[in-house]
Amino acid sequence: MKVLIVGNGGREHALAHAISKSSTVSKIYVAPGNGGTDGGNEKISSVKIGYSKKDFPLLVNFAVENEVSLVIPGPEQPLVDGISAFFKKVGIPCFGPSEKAAMLEGSKAFSKDFMKKHNIPTAEYRNFTDYNEAKEYIEKVDHRVVIKASGLAAGKGVLIPENTQEALQGLKEIMVDKIFDDAGSQVVIEEYLDGEEISVLALSDGYTVIQLPSAQDHKRAFDGDQGLNTGGMGTYAPAPVATPEILSEIQKTVLQPTIDGMRKDGVPFVGCLFTGFMITNKGPKVIEYNCRFGDPEIESVLSLLSDSTDFYQVCLAAAEGRLDSVSIEFKNSYAATVIIASGGYPSSYEKGKIITFGELPSSDITVYHAGTQKSQDGSVVTSGGRVLAVTGVSETLVGAIEKAYSGVKTISFENCFYRNDIGHRALSKIKEMKLQADSKSTGLTYSDSGVDIEKGNKLVDLIKPIVKSTKRPGTDSDIGGFGGIFDLKSTKFVDPIIVSATDGVGTKLIIAQKMDIHDTVGYRYLNHFLLTFDLMYAGIDLVAMQVNDIIVQGAEPLFFLDYFATGNLHLENTTKFISGVAQGCLMSGCGLIGGETAEMPALYQNGEYDVAGFAVGAVERTHLLPKTELIGANDVVIGMASSGIHSNGFSLVRKILEKKGLDFKDTCPWKSVSDSSDPKSVENSIGFELLTPTKIYVKSLLPILQQEQIKVKALSHITGGGFLDNIPRVLPKNYNVEIDASKWEFPQVFKWLKNAGNVDSIEMARTFNCGIGMVLIADASDAEDILSALKSNGENASVIGRIVPRNDLNDETRVTMNNLSSWE
Ligand code: AMP
Ligand code: GLY
Repeated sequence: MKVLIVGNGGREHALAHAISKSSTVSKIYVAPGNGGTDGGNEKISSVKIGYSKKDFPLLVNFAVENEVSLVIPGPEQPLVDGISAFFKKVGIPCFGPSEKAAMLEGSKAFSKDFMKKHNIPTAEYRNFTDYNEAKEYIEKVDHRVVIKASGLAAGKGVLIPENTQEALQGLKEIMVDKIFDDAGSQVVIEEYLDGEEISVLALSDGYTVIQLPSAQDHKRAFDGDQGLNTGGMGTYAPAPVATPEILSEIQKTVLQPTIDGMRKDGVPFVGCLFTGFMITNKGPKVIEYNCRFGDPEIESVLSLLSDSTDFYQVCLAAAEGRLDSVSIEFKNSYAATVIIASGGYPSSYEKGKIITFGELPSSDITVYHAGTQKSQDGSVVTSGGRVLAVTGVSETLVGAIEKAYSGVKTISFENCFYRNDIGHRALSKIKEMKLQADSKSTGLTYSDSGVDIEKGNKLVDLIKPIVKSTKRPGTDSDIGGFGGIFDLKSTKFVDPIIVSATDGVGTKLIIAQKMDIHDTVGYRYLNHFLLTFDLMYAGIDLVAMQVNDIIVQGAEPLFFLDYFATGNLHLENTTKFISGVAQGCLMSGCGLIGGETAEMPALYQNGEYDVAGFAVGAVERTHLLPKTELIGANDVVIGMASSGIHSNGFSLVRKILEKKGLDFKDTCPWKSVSDSSDPKSVENSIGFELLTPTKIYVKSLLPILQQEQIKVKALSHITGGGFLDNIPRVLPKNYNVEIDASKWEFPQVFKWLKNAGNVDSIEMARTFNCGIGMVLIADASDAEDILSALKSNGENASVIGRIVPRNDLNDETRVTMNNLSSWE
């Protein structure tokens, strides 16, 4: 495959470099390219065509003649000039927005109106085309303002006046003196926002939007954020100020609404949506949109791509409207990029200076070319203001910055300069945290070893209200103490027997972890919807497994404790999981009285987690189940419907999917998708179906089990081992059971698994619940009463078998499955 990248900066060199790693790409042309794309990497070469509007037909001819399969325009100007349509016409996929969608960057007035229409958080503003009205507004407004030329002004069209007088002066320069030409015939006057800035680059196909690791740019020319605004003097990524919570808010309140809003307004956005944010004390607010990759943000961000990610395939998938068909992963590291600029930049500077390159001290350093050119004698000379971008990658931010600067020091040319303080905000924050920790202890801190106690404490605060919601008689439901307390006296038990159970969720968790990948970068929203649901569901599942085990003893679940172990404590995810546990507790009437969250970076990989739980219930001695001795030949077996696979058999499920070449994100083949819903949506995915939580049978069974004259003789929770292993657990020695498999509807999911995996019916019955999650044994004469009570409690239940005397005591088969052909 051949790729054409349009542009000549560090961004385009970084894109070419990343794409050159794709095994499917044989050639990358960069038009017009620079000294870095002109040799050095044999897959990459420069093409001497520019990118102004008149060059578009030449670029198209070149792409057609050279059988280019993907075009990526780098800079904003050709996008705003409508370059995408030229390639669309000849059928070559182009990763970049249409002329109309590029208006998000091309017109600040348009983008502000768009944000207002779609309720996207941004600074208060007014648009003006009339100088006098704008002037009047500045005179009367009671907050500090920022004045922006609405059109493209090469990143320089923003004034941040200190006071009203400066504001009026600036307004005159833009609107009357036209210092930015026509870009200033319309202005946006907006509220000044205070806070830290971050750049969030996100890829979109018009539907899905995937965040790349957040970055922080350094816009001013000199150290300490002094001097004029530039295109950017250095970046680092991920930016610690953008916590996972903030990134999640950004996804929900800005990125997805932007992509959805553009599509709904008839101008779907395909390409890199680069949003500049101010993290204010009222949350993240949009400062601006750009319709392309940020420079030098992308140099840092692409250096973090994992070796397994094929960036060409990602961009192609986005351009073809199927971004959800690929995955993009990043290293668990930091990157820092330092720009080396020409003396005088961003004002006037000289070009043609010969650059000398020394040997780089580490393979984790990459030098991207921006304003460079190959001269005839083969030397590389300067040709722009921002000349080179040097990126270092390391496991720590400090390490990444040190590497970048060690690379910078090997390069020189006359009058070159660079900022010495790239990453200073993050570094001072790290220093501040270290000082705080040092003042508390003299030795190593726990947090130095990767365990964050502060976060743990914060988590306790976050979950306290959730836990409180599960309060019931006997619990004080306050957590944070040493042990959970339950007052048995405040229940009505006279002579109680305590029943306890412990369990996990098993390999079902793999689905949750595969559907969404969590890492230090925050986490990527391959599917942000699922992120909300996977852990919540895991929490419900966890409670379900245990309370169902308790109810089969006839006992009422009283309290629950959970355990969450992870490599890297992620507040939002953990809170979601605990909310799910609390929900499960509410569904089963037990109090959540404690738990444990363990952050163990040495034991779990980043983003990995495991969960376990412990439940305690009580039952009157007279009502303890099973009453095995009462079970006899007149008894029937009643089955209660399951909600799906529950928590067992997932290893086999994964094998079957693998065999069929299906992924958790693929459309669910056993679900009938209604015409109005998108088959590619998360709700219609295999993973989502499989994650359906285990049914909790407590509330529908308890009233039946607590009747004075108890009719149910035994209960069996159909978990690992299916019918075949679980029913015999409550049978007396001299009885077997016969199940009639035609007595209930064999659910679609099992039908599909059976066929797809060519799984024998008996094997199905041994592995899965096959549609029956709970089994009751009772006298045949009581069956009708029990069934009608179950029905009025909302359950779908029926008689599915009977107890039969056992003839041969050596016969190991205790469950006979009849009419299995009905499952075919
Ligand atoms: P822009 O071209 O919109 O990114 O603006 C350039 C720079 O001006 C931004 O990176 C910010 O540093 C600053 N800026 C823009 N809008 C605001 C605002 N509403 N409040 C404070 N600073 C702003
Ligand atoms: N680094 C800022 C930009 O690309 O606009």
